[in-house]
Amino acid sequence: MSFHLPADLLDRPTPYYLYDLNLLERTLHMLQQAAQAHNVQVHYALKANANLPVLERVQQAGFGADCVSGNEVQRALDAGFAPDHIVFAGVGKSDAEINLALTADIWCFNAESGQELEVLNELAGAQGRRARVALRVNPNVDAHTHHYITTGLDANKFGINLSDLPATVELLESLPHLELVGLHAHIGSQITNLSVFEQLSHKINELQTWLEDKGYQLPHLNVGGGLGINYDDPDTDPIPDFEAYFAAFGQHLHRRAGQQVHVELGRSVVAQCGTLVSRVLYVKQSQQTNFAILDAGMTELIRPALYGSHHHIQNVTSTAKTDKTYDVVGPICESSDTFGKGILLPETKRGDLIALRSAGAYGEVMSSEYNLREKTTPVYVG
Ligand code: LLP
Repeated sequence: MSFHLPADLLDRPTPYYLYDLNLLERTLHMLQQAAQAHNVQVHYALKANANLPVLERVQQAGFGADCVSGNEVQRALDAGFAPDHIVFAGVGKSDAEINLALTADIWCFNAESGQELEVLNELAGAQGRRARVALRVNPNVDAHTHHYITTGLDANKFGINLSDLPATVELLESLPHLELVGLHAHIGSQITNLSVFEQLSHKINELQTWLEDKGYQLPHLNVGGGLGINYDDPDTDPIPDFEAYFAAFGQHLHRRAGQQVHVELGRSVVAQCGTLVSRVLYVKQSQQTNFAILDAGMTELIRPALYGSHHHIQNVTSTAKTDKTYDVVGPICESSDTFGKGILLPETKRGDLIALRSAGAYGEVMSSEYNLREKTTPVYVG
C-alpha cells in the first residue's frame, strides 16, 4: 500500500477528490516519450476529467484536446489549448456547439453521419468557412470490454456503419464547405487486451486503401482512445504501458509517408492520479453482513453502480491489527449504491477515512446532485 493521506488533510471535511499532480506529471512525461518515439499525436479526452489544473498540465506537456461538447471545446480554449490542437467529436453535436467550434477554428470535426455532414456544411458555409472533417467509422470490431463502454460494434450508435460509407463519401463530395482530412475510429474504453487494436488497425488499413482508390489521400488517421488501467492493483505499476499501446498500432497500422497518427486517451492519463476520500459514517453489523456506510456514494463515484466496476478500497486511518469483511456502501437511497461487497479491511469504525482509488477518470465528471447532495471541491497535491 503506497497511498498515504497528507497529515494536513486528515481533518478536512469529506468527501472530496484528491489529485496527485506529481503522478500526473510523471504519467504525462512517460506518455510524451512513448508518443514521440512512435511519432503519434495525443489528444487528451477531456470527458475523463476536465478540471483546469489537470488540463493545464496536459496542455503544457504539449498534447491536444479531444472534446465532445461545446462546453468542453470552451474549457479546452480556457485551459490554453491552441484551436489547431482541438478536435470536436460526438454523435449528437448541436448547431450551437458546431457554431462555437467553427468560430474558434478548431482543427477537426469527427463527423458521425451523413446528416451531420450536411448540417456542418451548411453552418460552415454560413460562416464563410471550410471545416476540416474526419469521418468516424464504426469498424465493427469488438473491444471485449463492458457493453456500456463498447462503441465500435454495428449495434452501437457511434460512427458511420461500413455499409453506409460509400454513400457518405459520395455525399461529402457534394459538400463544398467541408474538407476531408482523416479517418477516425474508437472501439471502446478500459481495453486491456491490446490485440483488439491489431484488428482495428487491419480494418483502418482496408478503409484507407479503399479511400485511396477513390482518390483520397488522408493527412491523418485517428485511432481513438481506450487504453485500460489496472484497477485491482493501483500501486505496483501506476503508469499504464503506453509504449505497448503505441507499438500495437506501430506494428499493424499501414501509415503512409508523412501521415499523422492521432490517439485520444482519457482514462489512462488521469485515472491513477485521483482518489475519492471519504469518511465512515456508521458501521452497521447486520446478521449476515457488516456494512461500512460512507459519506461518499454513487453521486460522487457512479462507476461501481453503473458498470459493476471495482475501485480498490483502503482504510487509510485504522490502526487495528485485525481484519474484517465489509460491504462498503454509500448513503444514497439505492441498493446499487455499493462500492464493494465482502471487502477485507482492518477493523473499521465511525470516523475512519476510506480511499477509493483510481478514481481520477470518469469520477468527478460523472458526479450528480441526486438526493440534493452537495458538489464536492477537489484538492490537489504535488
Ligand atoms: N474517443 C472517443 C470517441 C470516446 O468515446 C472516448 C471515451 C475516448 C476517446 C476516451 O477513451 P479512454 O481513453 O478514456 O478509454 N464512463 C466510462 C467510460 C466512457 C468512455 C467514453 N468514451 C467509464 O467510467 O468507464
